[in-house]
Amino acid sequence: MKKMVPDFFKMKAEHEKITMLTAYDYPGAHWVEEAGLDMILVGDSLGMVVLGYDSTVPVTMDDMIHHAKAVRRGAPQTFVVVDMPFMSYATIDSALLNAGRLIQEGGADAVKLEGGESFAPIIKTLTQAGIPVVGHIGLTPQTATQLGGFKVQGRDLESAKQLMRDARALEEAGVMSIVLEAIPAEVAKRITREITVPSIGIGAGKDCDGQVLVIHDLLGMFDRFKPKFVKSYGDVKALAVQGIREYITEVKQQNFPAKEHEFKLSDEIVEKLYGKD
Ligand code: KIV
Repeated sequence: MKKMVPDFFKMKAEHEKITMLTAYDYPGAHWVEEAGLDMILVGDSLGMVVLGYDSTVPVTMDDMIHHAKAVRRGAPQTFVVVDMPFMSYATIDSALLNAGRLIQEGGADAVKLEGGESFAPIIKTLTQAGIPVVGHIGLTPQTATQLGGFKVQGRDLESAKQLMRDARALEEAGVMSIVLEAIPAEVAKRITREITVPSIGIGAGKDCDGQVLVIHDLLGMFDRFKPKFVKSYGDVKALAVQGIREYITEVKQQNFPAKEHEFKLSDEIVEKLYGKD
């Protein structure tokens, strides 16, 4: 049965870990639903792992809606969170308009946006309008340039305290969950203990209420770089390249297609088609 917002709060209360992965298309969504995942993220990481950009910044609302729709079709029974792309929530008006589009057109159950306490007023407007929002603090890829690159956040006392203030502000603004990315495990543990909403960690240690990974990292489908916090549970790229090589060899050597892959005409029609030589 599809989980809803209160189910994730119950899981936190009962110390049952929440599992989240990204998905960007119909087959990926179908796989994670069949495996029994709790929550899908249509992440703007799709800009890097699917569309081949160097960052998430070029991703547009149209990209997100296109991929969210495919994911919804592939996983009708799974809670789907869709990322709001860079600059789509810079003002209250644009945030309302674009979050509404992700829900109505993309089929999202919730939207996710990056940012700490300065984004609380925007988040509050969305949650008061009835849109479930997932926050995202720590390493926020859309603004990685401002953070000095893809670096661990919250390593000194002041920035760790700022992360705690951010988490509290997002909680007060009504988020249903907060993604904690690339922060020390001790900071994530403290935040998780202090807030009532579930924390979902990525590079934030084992004490978060749940974990999220990019599915291309988990399955070994993306090898341009591999963050320290990633664990690969498969090597899909190696399997794919091996399969494609076998196909190339068999076509070149005329072993594929074989008889069992052919459609046949009746002898009578063959005779008429070819005539009697
Ligand atoms: O876009 C994404 O995939 C994300 C995760 C890394 C949390 O935001």
